[in-house]
Amino acid sequence: MSPGSASPAAIPGGGVACVRHVAIIMDGNGRWAKRRHLPRVAGHRQGMEAVRRTIRAAGEIGLEALTLYAFSSENWRRPVDEINDLMGLLRLYLKREIDELDRNGVRLRLIGDYHKFAPDLVEQLEAAVARTANNQGLTAVLALNYGGQDEIVRVARRMAEAAKAGTLDPAAIDIDLIDDHLDTAGLPPLDLMIRTSGEVRLSNFLLWQAAYAELLFTDTLWPDFDRAALEDALAAFGARERRFGGR
Ligand code: FPP
Repeated sequence: MSPGSASPAAIPGGGVACVRHVAIIMDGNGRWAKRRHLPRVAGHRQGMEAVRRTIRAAGEIGLEALTLYAFSSENWRRPVDEINDLMGLLRLYLKREIDELDRNGVRLRLIGDYHKFAPDLVEQLEAAVARTANNQGLTAVLALNYGGQDEIVRVARRMAEAAKAGTLDPAAIDIDLIDDHLDTAGLPPLDLMIRTSGEVRLSNFLLWQAAYAELLFTDTLWPDFDRAALEDALAAFGARERRFGGR
């Protein structure tokens, strides 16, 4: 994922920006629910609606990839009921949305150690990935049981094993080779990372990939995120000057 050629995506006002890949830390479901005196699950449910809206908008705008932090490797620390609610919503989302995703040419992809999920959910996820594998539109990437440090550890372990087996020369390890071994291999370089709900940290999301990404923090709570919010973020991105370490 080194900075490469960028194809323009439409941004509001008729302009274009060289934005290919956007990632979102979807935060604020709990606060959204709390403000309405609703249970947390109601916030996650509305969060699922925001996922639907945002994937549709990203496809229409012409992004190549949208990566959503749907379940972090740290989310296992939540109460078991909440974890079950999140898993249930994921099942519901796939069941309800797979036809539309497929119809709209969306290619679904997964990053993270999602094999730790329940076998039926893993099966459902992999069936959705297989069904949409040849689509040519937006690549919608769900980060599931994902942690950026864990991803790098997994790459290091695989490389160390290959070196031990004599199939990898340690001197051949460079940035491109690591890129090619990450869960995100083959995706366009990450251009823009958005975090909702006013929190200002990366929370272990796409740590390697964010090296030259623009970061954008918005106070909007994730369940309120919509096409207009995505367009605002893209407009802000378009106004930034990216130097990739140069002058
Ligand atoms: C953070 O809100 C959000 C999550 C824990 C994960 C995102 C989950 C969804 C959007 C629901 C369904 C997703 C899919 C893909 C179907 P929070 O609970 O941390 O909010 P808080 O910080 O306000 O408590």
